[in-house]
Amino acid sequence: MKNDLTVVVLAAGKGTRMQSESPKVLHKVGGFSLIDHVLATLKGLKPKLTYVITGYGAAAVEASVQPIPCIRQQPQLGTGHAVQVALKKIGKVAGDLLIVYGDSPFLSAQTLKTLIDTHRAKANAVTVLGFHPNDPDRYGRLIMNGEKLTKIVEYSNATDKEKQIDFCNSGVVMMKGDVAAKLIAGLSNKNNQKEYLLTDVVEAANAQGLICGVSEASEQELLGINDRFQLAQAEAFFQDTKRREFLNDGVTLIDPATVYFAADTKIASDVVIEPDVFFGPGVSIESGVVIKSFSHIEGAKIKKNAKVGPFARIRSETEIGEGAKVGNFVEVKKSKIKKGAKVSHLSYVGDADVGENANIGAGTITCNYDGKNKHKTVIGNGAFVGSNTALIAPVKIGNKSFVAAGSVISKNLKDGEMGITRAEQKNFKNSADYRKSKSKK
Ligand code: UD1
Ligand code: MG
Repeated sequence: MKNDLTVVVLAAGKGTRMQSESPKVLHKVGGFSLIDHVLATLKGLKPKLTYVITGYGAAAVEASVQPIPCIRQQPQLGTGHAVQVALKKIGKVAGDLLIVYGDSPFLSAQTLKTLIDTHRAKANAVTVLGFHPNDPDRYGRLIMNGEKLTKIVEYSNATDKEKQIDFCNSGVVMMKGDVAAKLIAGLSNKNNQKEYLLTDVVEAANAQGLICGVSEASEQELLGINDRFQLAQAEAFFQDTKRREFLNDGVTLIDPATVYFAADTKIASDVVIEPDVFFGPGVSIESGVVIKSFSHIEGAKIKKNAKVGPFARIRSETEIGEGAKVGNFVEVKKSKIKKGAKVSHLSYVGDADVGENANIGAGTITCNYDGKNKHKTVIGNGAFVGSNTALIAPVKIGNKSFVAAGSVISKNLKDGEMGITRAEQKNFKNSADYRKSKSKK
């Protein structure tokens, strides 16, 4: 019974105020879409079933939430209509039905657990998650009679007196499955909005003598995103929370306000992060690592005591080994820079394995792309690649082998071999004035 929970995530709306071609729930906070945040939280509740209601930009939303089943609501006739469409498809809901919005990324599993527990302990027919916002603005108002919720009135339908109420509807609603079936089916769109309003279930439940209640959460957690300003506010709140978390966990952020994290960034204690660093999704960093200023890092595992930056760009599927160094103006993509290896300056390393303690000279480029396909470069342990080398993949540089500076290497080097491709230098005696004599003409 405990997990007899079916969750419906409403995500069919366009989010007109975002002024975007992209559906609102696909806008991102901390590198992940709003709906990703919600679904990650829901996972923690271990519901029996979860469905996402899609409408505007349905194909894009459906692709992004795979493999979670989606139900299309076409056209979108209101939040109540969304649940009607959902229940038509889902059929009988055995336990409880929880409805959440796809645009509230900070809703926590703890708050939802409290809502579920309250709902079940009080044996309510309907329980609504309410909050006291600083500015109640255009939120629906919760009309209470003691502990009982008697009605939710939408702002646009509220009397002046009702607008004075500062206890507001978050949109998160929990209903007994059997009750939901009846109440939702009975919704009408005969109102100012000409929409089916989910909020109307409360008055309908009361009319049938059923008990409705509330559970409360903080405003910060219920921040719904409706426009770009709120999206930016959400990002700021997210980043601030992450910075505090990492500082508390023993990460040094010299100037916290200039470092940006993704929702899944993992950083061990005793990592130092200099100012102006950006982390995209998929980064984990082990202890003792130093990330120097102006580095952009995503999809990378950075092992103990490695040094990255300043001005490094680390892209997806990269691993930087223990004590390795990736220096200024170096881009690394889909590569392993193994233990103790150094790529200190001005290089592009893509689709490559760089062996332990190898040294890659300034200006070395792995030429991994032939215009059609990507190819691999393998550099052995202890190899030394001189500056300004082009390694034309696929190519292998053996262990402890040596590539002379300025070479264009397209043939494999065996272990211990030296490779050089360079036009022979010619020197001319007493000819240093040759340049001047040329320029006089
Ligand atoms: C809703 C509530 C309001 C509450 C507020 C909190 C109703 C009628 N009103 O208003 O009481 O204070 O949220 O933020 O429920 N959606 C669909 N299909 C539709 C319409 C909406 O899936 O046909 C989805 C949207 O994508 C969104 C959510 O439902 O995720 C809420 O819709 P929105 O239009 O933002 O409702 P509000 O007017 O904000
Ligand atoms: Mg809204």
